[in-house]
Amino acid sequence: MKQTTVYLCQNCGASSPKWLGKCPQCGQWNTYVEERVAKPTKGRAGLVEVSRNAVPQPLSQVQSSNERRIDSGLEEVNRLLGGGIVPGSMLLLGGEPGIGKSTLSLQIALSATLDRVLYVSGEESANQVKIRADRLAASTDRCLVLNETLLENILTQCQGVNPSLLVVDSIQTLYSEAVESSAGSVSQVRECAAGLLRYAKTSGVPVLLIGHINKEGTIAGPKVLEHIVDVVLQFEGDSTHMYRVLRSVKNRFGSTSELAMFEMQGDGLRQITNPSELLLGERDAGLSGVAVAAAVDGARPMLVEVQALVSSAAYGTPQRSTTGFDVRRLNMLLAVLEKRAGFKLATKDVFLNIAGGVRIVDPGIDLAVVAAVLSSNFDVALPPDTAFAAEVGLSGEVRGVARLEQRIAEGQRLGFAHTMAAAHAREGAIPQRLKAHYRPIARVEELAKWVLGR
Ligand code: TYD
Ligand code: MG
Repeated sequence: MKQTTVYLCQNCGASSPKWLGKCPQCGQWNTYVEERVAKPTKGRAGLVEVSRNAVPQPLSQVQSSNERRIDSGLEEVNRLLGGGIVPGSMLLLGGEPGIGKSTLSLQIALSATLDRVLYVSGEESANQVKIRADRLAASTDRCLVLNETLLENILTQCQGVNPSLLVVDSIQTLYSEAVESSAGSVSQVRECAAGLLRYAKTSGVPVLLIGHINKEGTIAGPKVLEHIVDVVLQFEGDSTHMYRVLRSVKNRFGSTSELAMFEMQGDGLRQITNPSELLLGERDAGLSGVAVAAAVDGARPMLVEVQALVSSAAYGTPQRSTTGFDVRRLNMLLAVLEKRAGFKLATKDVFLNIAGGVRIVDPGIDLAVVAAVLSSNFDVALPPDTAFAAEVGLSGEVRGVARLEQRIAEGQRLGFAHTMAAAHAREGAIPQRLKAHYRPIARVEELAKWVLGR
């Protein structure tokens, strides 16, 4: 095979014949590294090799294995995957170091209802894996540990062991003899992933890959692999908080608008089946600046507490700081408040916090943010029986949001008698049984009056 030298972006895998400071594809700086690669021959670069005697066949006669799903042993992970692990699929679990990827994969390896799981660890010794498994307090008979980083050896071991699930921790530690560059480089990561994909597709054994993400982009990121694998799960969270959010970013066998929450404990990750109760757990209802949003992340309703602190700006430029919420969105909402509700924008510092360290992408949080800011600004506590679920538009209009019925129902389930939402809710968005819990509001001015006027 002919070897050549190219420069590859370690973030997205784009290639260039010369070094570039900024990647034109993903916009990252300083990510190009020189790598020796084999001249691409046909059928490589992540494509499934078609066997020589493959023949076209009518779709109706193709055997479907969709009904069979492997129980991962974790209810929440199954739900996220759309029912379980699909045989022959390749999954990528991405996340920053220390977030709990190894812990989660080992928990799956130990609790999945399978005969044999092969856990390949390139990062930790078998002894370290054992110590971790003991912490997780589960039986270890069905789980085999292999300390190996050479792809060809792993594949040979797989032929012998014939596992029902292969876990690889992590893809960045693997290397293949077919490629010259060092482990963790784009060409190694691609080559190894392609080799494992071929194994998964030909043997029907699902492969769970762990991939590190680092912000500097000095190691080949999971971005390089996203188009190769069937499922991408992203583990995120704040390392200072116990809560972890697992999102499905890509899923060929289910929806991507799903999320599961976990709590890191002394004996591993615990599934949180009821996020609202947890996120509202430490709430003190009598304080000003606190509002509860009936949010939806993906398809799941959850109540989150929005905390705002508004104070007089001590220096010339007012400060705006947020955690878990887009600061530009906050600035926009504050500008709306200035125009519509007499909020003195230029003289106030505003701090905003979504409690629990979770980041939720949902425009339906807007109204709760506005309510929390007004509540802190006027130093008036909001009524503890009201949750908020609406988007706020540029002219101060309160807009409807998706899944209003679920939001109101979740609020009611957790003891909120009312959920404030757009007055122009879609016809039929609120069923009869929830009508009494719906409090319509059309404009932010009304909200300001309501906050002050009680
Ligand atoms: P780890 O799974 O090693 O993270 P990753 O593989 O993503 O780098 O675990 C991360 C942290 O979790 C580590 O700092 C120790 C902690 N931890 C617990 O708190 N409880 C446990 O039971 C385990 C196994 C780990
Ligand atoms: Mg790890």
